[in-house]
Amino acid sequence: MSIAKKQYKRVTVKSLVEMKSNGEKISMLTAYDYTMAKIVDGAGIDVILVGDSASNVMAGHETTLPITLDQMIYHASSVIRAINRALVVVDLPFGTYQSDPKEALRSAIRIMKESGGHAVKVEGGKEIKESIKRILNAGIPVMGHLGLTPQSIYKFGTYTVRAKEETEAEKLKEDAKMLERAGCFAVVLEKVPAKLAKEVAESLTIPVIGIGAGNGVDGQVLVTHDMLGMTHEFNPRFLRRYLNMYEEMTNAFKKYAADVKSLDFPNEKEQY
Ligand code: KIV
Repeated sequence: MSIAKKQYKRVTVKSLVEMKSNGEKISMLTAYDYTMAKIVDGAGIDVILVGDSASNVMAGHETTLPITLDQMIYHASSVIRAINRALVVVDLPFGTYQSDPKEALRSAIRIMKESGGHAVKVEGGKEIKESIKRILNAGIPVMGHLGLTPQSIYKFGTYTVRAKEETEAEKLKEDAKMLERAGCFAVVLEKVPAKLAKEVAESLTIPVIGIGAGNGVDGQVLVTHDMLGMTHEFNPRFLRRYLNMYEEMTNAFKKYAADVKSLDFPNEKEQY
């Protein structure tokens, strides 16, 4: 079991690399709003990801593609106001960094200036190398994201496990190396075989954070609403539900409605 080896008052990109070299696993969860971020940060989670999964979880879109830079900035600034310790990484949304490096830098600068986030995350490998370098040259920390990259869902067609074939696995390994050489501080590997993820983690000095990538990596990330069981349509094998909030909340709402209708709420003590 990996337990905290060192107390970090504030987690920085350097702390994460240090955790990897000390053999301490990194915990990461998503948050998109102040209240959730306050609980996640207070629980001691190392990294909070303001993921573009907000597009699905908060706005109900089918994919992550529609969320805008302004919307990501709104979510990230709400999260930033809540945190004391965690490192806050913000997804650059689809269409704000792929077309050219200057636009990528402008988008990353807007995130940093307008939300106060600590780093950005981008999806992809060598295709976006120049954008990554341009952002890094401005002093903005970048987290990579390989494997299942939801912003490319229409290219892949499905959300199935990636890099099972040799050619895709080789490309993923090369891309991971490239991200490290370019100066990224960490890489997310999503939904790839555990053996491949372990191999990649062992070949890099920067941390590899997995989601559906087994336990041979340097840390884990989950979407908070999924691990709390608030969502119930999404059931991938890698998802561990720590609560059944969907049921708990439904029961609470039903009880409230029944109490209102039966005049049980508010009672004498609950009024002025
Ligand atoms: O947007 C997101 O929540 C993510 C995680 C699934 C890694 O990118």
